[in-house]
Amino acid sequence: MSENLNGAGPDELLDLFRNTFRRHAGGVVVLTGADELGQPIGFTATSLASLSAVPARATFNVIKRTNGYRAIARGRRVAVNFLGAESADLGRRFAGPFEERFVGDHWSFDNGTPVLHDAAVTLFTEITDVYDQGENAIVVLEILGGRVGEEQDPLLYHNREFGTIRELAHTLV
Ligand SMILES: Cc1cc2nc3c(=O)[nH]c(=O)nc-3n(C[C@H](O)[C@H](O)[C@H](O)COP(=O)(O)O)c2cc1C
Repeated sequence: MSENLNGAGPDELLDLFRNTFRRHAGGVVVLTGADELGQPIGFTATSLASLSAVPARATFNVIKRTNGYRAIARGRRVAVNFLGAESADLGRRFAGPFEERFVGDHWSFDNGTPVLHDAAVTLFTEITDVYDQGENAIVVLEILGGRVGEEQDPLLYHNREFGTIRELAHTLV
């Protein structure tokens, strides 16, 4: 990109934002929890970031108008399921139709929190803070423990596609 968009208008800023984050490859997790009735809730996310090692904390961002937001409140448990290269189907499923996400035997409850069986790593966390940001919220997670699965290449999301670093080479823009 050679254009200098300093002082861009709202439409240009939206284009700039989309073009930038489309090119920003991200690791993929599925965040799972339960609603107030104990029903499983889950969604695909690339906004997970490490916050601090001591105490062990991470953050993610959530869109408030989504089903996923029903699992978000201080004190609630959330599992962070890190997807490996072979789990692109799980990444798609948990960003697809809400009613279909937990149909099948790819998950089970672990102490009341749904977990995905094929995750490369699952972290068990508790929500300590939720910071309102208009239509979105920033969520802070305290990591309580975890389970490391079979070693896998990480799954990435880049330019609207899931894949490994090698598979995504053709999406470079
Ligand atoms: C690659 C990818 C990353 C996503 N990252 C986030 C995220 O970080 N936070 C979020 O709230 N939704 C994210 N979404 C959207 C959710 O997965 C989900 O589709 C959306 O929340 C609508 O879900 P709902 O049916 O639960 O309302 C992402 C979707 C995709 C495909």
